[in-house]
Amino acid sequence: MPEKSNIATLKPLPRHVAIIMDGNGRWAKQRLMPRVMGHRQGAKTVKEIVTVSRELKIRYLTLYAFSKENWSRPFDEVSSLMSLLYEYLQKELEELMDKRIRLRAIGEIEALPDKVYSLLVETMERTALNREMDLILALSYGGRSEITEAARRFAEECLMGRMKPEDINEASFRTFLQTGDIPDPDLIIRTSGEQRLSNFLLFQAAYSELYITSTFWPDFNRQEFMKALNDYRCRERRFGMTGEQILLRCTSSES
Ligand code: IPE
Ligand code: IPE
Ligand code: MG
Repeated sequence: MPEKSNIATLKPLPRHVAIIMDGNGRWAKQRLMPRVMGHRQGAKTVKEIVTVSRELKIRYLTLYAFSKENWSRPFDEVSSLMSLLYEYLQKELEELMDKRIRLRAIGEIEALPDKVYSLLVETMERTALNREMDLILALSYGGRSEITEAARRFAEECLMGRMKPEDINEASFRTFLQTGDIPDPDLIIRTSGEQRLSNFLLFQAAYSELYITSTFWPDFNRQEFMKALNDYRCRERRFGMTGEQILLRCTSSES
């Protein structure tokens, strides 16, 4: 729980939480288990965190499930991760429909094995009209390639005569990113203690609050999540302004 003195100034919950789910391998290693067991346990954590997010009415939850760089892992580990993703999609459809959760994906999903790709597309289509929450899976995702791909598509628009170089600005460039209509993450959580973004949402993370916990992803649970959210709610987001300006903005919007 936050300090008592902070309660009066507690900010609203984040609208968009993004999580770098890290530490499955080390969790398993600590228990002398194969890495895949860590991933299996990690899938259970995904279920719990989605449930809590939905309960708390967090509108957008993005989960970094597989990076572009993760393709370089041993073949067996990649295969196990793909099987787990397939299993997750199969098992969770009912829950996603029940709770009115829309499943979306960012990343080069065409690179996924055919079977996984088809089920993912099918799940996205079937949940497309759900409006309570967006669960966004980052799969075969890399922030740099998302940005370079956006630049390439913009250049193509210029070549076709549909846009001019002077049309590009932060707002129009955003529309070329895969996150298009999704607001920037307010809070990015990384488990397992690493202090890096690992190519996650590089453009979108410009003013996200970062929360790093040493807890491995399979051990991350409702309590740990609440702790991260409460920590966020005690922070002052200044976006380059002074603390006084922020205070003034808050008091004038209240009156
Ligand atoms: C996160 O756990 C899962 C993926 C990156 C797919 P890791 O597998 O990276 O676990 P560690 O970092 O090796 O402990
Ligand atoms: C980041 O974890 C990617 C995901 C959580 C999917 P990694 O384990 O791949 O990151 P690095 O290699 O430690 O930076
Ligand atoms: Mg890792």
